[in-house]
Amino acid sequence: MKDLEGRIALVTGSGTGLGRSMAVKLAERGAEVIVNYSRSSAEAEEAADLCRAAGAQAEVVKADVSTAEGCALMAEAAGRRGRLDILINNAGITRHARDHGNLDALNKDDFMDVYAVNVAGPFLALQAMKPLLVAAYEQSGRASAVLNTSSIAGVIGIGSSVAYIASKGALNSMTLALARGLAPQIRVNSVCPGFIGTRWFKDAMDEEAYEKQVSAVEASTPLEVASGPDDIADAALFLVSDASRHVTGELLKVDAGVHLGKSPLRK
Ligand code: NAI
Repeated sequence: MKDLEGRIALVTGSGTGLGRSMAVKLAERGAEVIVNYSRSSAEAEEAADLCRAAGAQAEVVKADVSTAEGCALMAEAAGRRGRLDILINNAGITRHARDHGNLDALNKDDFMDVYAVNVAGPFLALQAMKPLLVAAYEQSGRASAVLNTSSIAGVIGIGSSVAYIASKGALNSMTLALARGLAPQIRVNSVCPGFIGTRWFKDAMDEEAYEKQVSAVEASTPLEVASGPDDIADAALFLVSDASRHVTGELLKVDAGVHLGKSPLRK
């Protein structure tokens, strides 16, 4: 299905994980993709090659989303194409402190670091790229689409740390404010994944602990599955496609039902 043919898309933090999966799926659907990364050019080039293998044009841009300068670099890349139809603010970081009652596990710098990428980053990216998103609207007559990768953590208050949870809650409320503020030219939505099997958790624990984490996720999730990047990306791309043309300000939970909790009632 090449329903995104002719569209220009930029995905932040798309050298790895969920961002890479969304970039490749955008390419498979015909979009030209700008892959952003901050650290590993090898991973980003690999992601861009996968986009090209899917038949799309792809460019790699190194930029830190938490700075206005980095966002200006991304805007420059999109500006060379004269428009931006799809912006996915996916780059994110955390600090792992899973005991939310241990207040000594985090300090102010942890909050500021996480907020700089997870909250200020999407805002700065949008600030830099708004004219190009508006240009796409003016050229196509179709609202351009911004998608923020948030987290179920920001909805239910369980996640890798209190700083991370608070940042994704802030991203969700920012999504609502910007959806209202930027209509009718730009739609703004969030996807709120539950657990995703990416390096996120793999880097934070040894293999045995990771396997136990996956089993715990499967046991606590109503659908009894642990999601991978493709499971989230398939649902997320609904929010940047024409199928969601009348959807803005939506916080889409893609968490295998984890927000529901398991019923305490006996069947
Ligand atoms: P990941 O670590 O593979 O992806 C994050 C990407 O963001 C990396 O490529 C990283 O280099 C990039 N990044 C970090 N800081 C950046 C900066 N300042 N500028 C540009 N890029 C930067 O992990 P994953 O899991 O794919 O995470 C993607 C998104 O999904 C994040 O926003 C995360 O909060 C969110 N998420 C992840 C969950 C999980 O269980 N792994 C669950 C719910 C949400």
